[in-house]
Amino acid sequence: MVFVWLAVAIGGCLLLVLVYDLTQRRHAILRNFPVVGHFRYLLEAIGPELRQYIVTGNDEELPFNRDQRRWVYSSSKNQNNYFGFGTDSELEQSSNYLIIKHSSFPVRSPLPGEADYDPYYAIPVAKILGGHRRRRRAFRPPSIVNISAMSFGSLSGNAIHALNAGSCLAGCLHNTGEGGVSPHHLQGGDLIWQIGTGYFGCRDEQGNFSLDHLVETTNKHPSIRALEIKLSQGAKPGLGGILPASKITPEISRIRGIPMGVDCISPSSHSAFSDADSLLDFVENIAEATGLPVGIKSAVGEMDLWHNLARLSDNTERGVDFITIDGGEGGTGAGPLVFTDRVALPFKIGMSRVYRVFAERGLHEKIVFQGSAKLGFPEMTLFAFALGCDMVGVAREAMLSIGCIQAQQCHSGHCPTGVATQNRWLVRGLDPLLKADRLANYVMTLRKEVLTLSRACGVVHPALITSEYLEILDGRFGSATVPQLFGYELSYGMPSPEDRAQITELMNGGPGGTATG
Ligand SMILES: Cc1cc2nc3c(=O)[nH]c(=O)nc-3n(C[C@H](O)[C@H](O)[C@H](O)COP(=O)(O)O)c2cc1C
Repeated sequence: MVFVWLAVAIGGCLLLVLVYDLTQRRHAILRNFPVVGHFRYLLEAIGPELRQYIVTGNDEELPFNRDQRRWVYSSSKNQNNYFGFGTDSELEQSSNYLIIKHSSFPVRSPLPGEADYDPYYAIPVAKILGGHRRRRRAFRPPSIVNISAMSFGSLSGNAIHALNAGSCLAGCLHNTGEGGVSPHHLQGGDLIWQIGTGYFGCRDEQGNFSLDHLVETTNKHPSIRALEIKLSQGAKPGLGGILPASKITPEISRIRGIPMGVDCISPSSHSAFSDADSLLDFVENIAEATGLPVGIKSAVGEMDLWHNLARLSDNTERGVDFITIDGGEGGTGAGPLVFTDRVALPFKIGMSRVYRVFAERGLHEKIVFQGSAKLGFPEMTLFAFALGCDMVGVAREAMLSIGCIQAQQCHSGHCPTGVATQNRWLVRGLDPLLKADRLANYVMTLRKEVLTLSRACGVVHPALITSEYLEILDGRFGSATVPQLFGYELSYGMPSPEDRAQITELMNGGPGGTATG
């Protein structure tokens, strides 16, 4: 009897759906294929998950394939992150396949229990941030791996909490993103405060930059160690920040000073400066007022900015302390498809173009270079170093480590893991303390493998690997080294001889210079 009623109920529902589908006008597919047409929408909705778990191979899928995700997940849980049986990559017939050439005389890696074993796998940066321009609060960043900009707003409060507390455990820097400094950012981890075109946290009533607010906040929070002026982001260069209305809560509206219910679109360019010359004035102004090292973050498009910056830094007593280059393949909380796919150079091309401009004037040893765009894997970090990076920023890899499943829902507010949403129920699922440990484990494992690779190449720090040690196969049994491919002189990509000597001393347990973090 129950089954009869059940069948009647289901039949009734289907009849209602049938009538609705036939009479509605919005979806042709439902008018033409009533009831069954809904499967098309269902499959579209769950297609990414189906492909991710069932259909795709280990090396397929972007932005991060299954092997990469598995490596981050197991590293962040301190589980066995080895892979068995040998590579499943096609080495000889793949084009652009990176090979790291090991030394015949590797450096020994200390084992747990030995006096020189470091469980944190600390790898300090080989240059002093703000050292060249003699900033009052210059320091040596304690980690070559840091958390790249992601704002409170694009990420949940619990996610930001986990990233900051995890950064504290791992001893790395955490970039606030352009949404300002929130209470979630104050869990013990040191910060790079990012200043975007919206000047969130340092703006006046009219939305213009306010030096007074900036100084007040940097004085209040000593954990702010550096300032980063955001010119552009690889995933949406030429556009300002976008925070969809669905993600603006009363707390975010208060912290940013923006209304609720409408998308928060930051302007595409800064009102505080308009060219390389006024940018350098702005940099010197805020560095002088706060004592902090100041850098810029940008994706790479036309090259005028970089030529002008290098020329003015060479000829005048001004200069940025660091440059973060973001690749076009970088991530975003929300951006138009054409910008994420087509605007700005990919990281390796953009980074090498900019680095060469500074290296040709001998300025490359004075500036700290940071890279971001899928660099949170050991071989990619080394590649970035060969191109001249002194540190890397990781964003989506850090998200994976705190539970992101690459559902690609950051723009919708429906992130199922509570990482990139403000939905209270979903955010509740993310335990910030547990995930802080995961972030720290991931960062430390990445450093461990980078260090192990460096030792396999015969040196004690990744900045000491010459770029010739990296070779790219062309898929036709040929290959070229990084300097050959990117037009680098052999000294490019390395710190100055003094910095090399200091970092070697530091890695071998000595004092390694004066200005430390
Ligand atoms: C959810 C999300 C939010 C982001 N927010 C910012 C931001 O506020 N400012 C910024 O400069 N970059 C932002 N980015 C870009 C990242 O900082 C980073 O440059 C980019 O994702 C490349 O690094 P990845 O490949 O490790 O993710 C964001 C990225 C993501 C995924």
